[in-house]
Amino acid sequence: MTSSDLRERHRRALGAHTPLFYEQPVHLVRGEGVWLFDADGTRYLDAYNNVPCVGHANSRVASAMADQASTLNVHSRYLHGGVIDYAERLASLHDDSLTTTVFTCTGTEAIEVAMMTARAATGRRGIISTEATYHGNSTEVRKLSDIGRRLAAGAAPDPTIGAVPVPDLASGDLDTHLDFLGEAIEAMAASEQGFAGVLMCSLLANEGLPEIPNGYFAAATDLVHQAGGVMIADEVQAGFARSGTWWGYDRSGFVPDIAVMGKPMGAGLPLAAAMSSEELVGAFRRSTRYFNTFAASPLQAAVGMAVIDEIEDRGLLAQVNDVGGYLLEGVRAITDRPAQMGGIRGVGLFVGIDWLDEHGQPDAKGAVAIANQMKLRGVLMGRSGALDNCLKMRPPLVFEREHADVVLEAFGDVMSSVA
Ligand SMILES: Cc1ncc(COP(=O)(O)O)c(C=O)c1O
Repeated sequence: MTSSDLRERHRRALGAHTPLFYEQPVHLVRGEGVWLFDADGTRYLDAYNNVPCVGHANSRVASAMADQASTLNVHSRYLHGGVIDYAERLASLHDDSLTTTVFTCTGTEAIEVAMMTARAATGRRGIISTEATYHGNSTEVRKLSDIGRRLAAGAAPDPTIGAVPVPDLASGDLDTHLDFLGEAIEAMAASEQGFAGVLMCSLLANEGLPEIPNGYFAAATDLVHQAGGVMIADEVQAGFARSGTWWGYDRSGFVPDIAVMGKPMGAGLPLAAAMSSEELVGAFRRSTRYFNTFAASPLQAAVGMAVIDEIEDRGLLAQVNDVGGYLLEGVRAITDRPAQMGGIRGVGLFVGIDWLDEHGQPDAKGAVAIANQMKLRGVLMGRSGALDNCLKMRPPLVFEREHADVVLEAFGDVMSSVA
């Protein structure tokens, strides 16, 4: 079967507009650590995927999954020690004020739980996020994810959603961005909806990892609390050691009322959660009859526990700081630097590089072309950002310096070919 046959079958079986990365999509058949292998045996270095955080086909995770699946897996309406152990272990990694967990299967669901919790606790509905964000794809969460597009199209946002410009030092200092937030909170509080809370990724990952004004999140949390709202940190990308601290909120210097986790949490098994205080979870539980068939299962707990064990036993926090710093410095040190290479930012094992056109304007298409060039050189990376022009390197946490060297060599080559 040729790859064009497979693409045609993919189109028919999964639908015409189902997204695939790269001009020539990769047909993967196997993964191992930081490596992915296609059907022809070509090896790719994975510099993109955060879900397999402890490496592709991790044996500890696979064994935990197999052992638990062959022992017991049931829904959450039974007592199970493994689930409680896992919830307690997770809480022990968070700030002391975050104690109690609502498990879900996807980040979208956990974001929705967080929004429902803020609304239940405050009795109000208005949630504020940034105007260039992505938090998930359900009808409710999509209102946040779509707000940028709606504003750009001149359409009125949903009245329950407010948005502020991305708190990026490049577009304003701390006071400017706090003013934006203060005004948005005031407007929401004065509206029929009332103000329930603010929801932001603690690293602003989908916003393109901008340089957040120092102290922004701590001061923003104060503003939220003064207005009687709930501060929600989306840790779906930022959490689980990605930032070189356990949580993005540690790195950004604040303590949220709710932390939403997902993606790397189950290393590929659908596992996500919203964690907050007993009081907030109590408000949520009282106001909903929330039940999620596959969530808070013994299988999720066993796998989630194996992921934490791997991160701790392999010293991945320290590794993320070391390798992330090395990768960032390496990108900054590229000598044959084309004019299209704009700002370079990094946090933990996460690097973002703005890609610009010949007039210095954001160039989303150019960023795609660079990702394609990298793929041809055997390195998988992606892009994100408010304007989709931010090249993104966000490899599994088990990435080592020798892997960073492979990325840097390929990236240096591609940059020379552009310069
Ligand atoms: C920051 C952030 N929050 C939430 C989500 C939604 O997670 P999921 O795709 O598991 O529903 C995503 C997914 O990309 C995300 O990047």
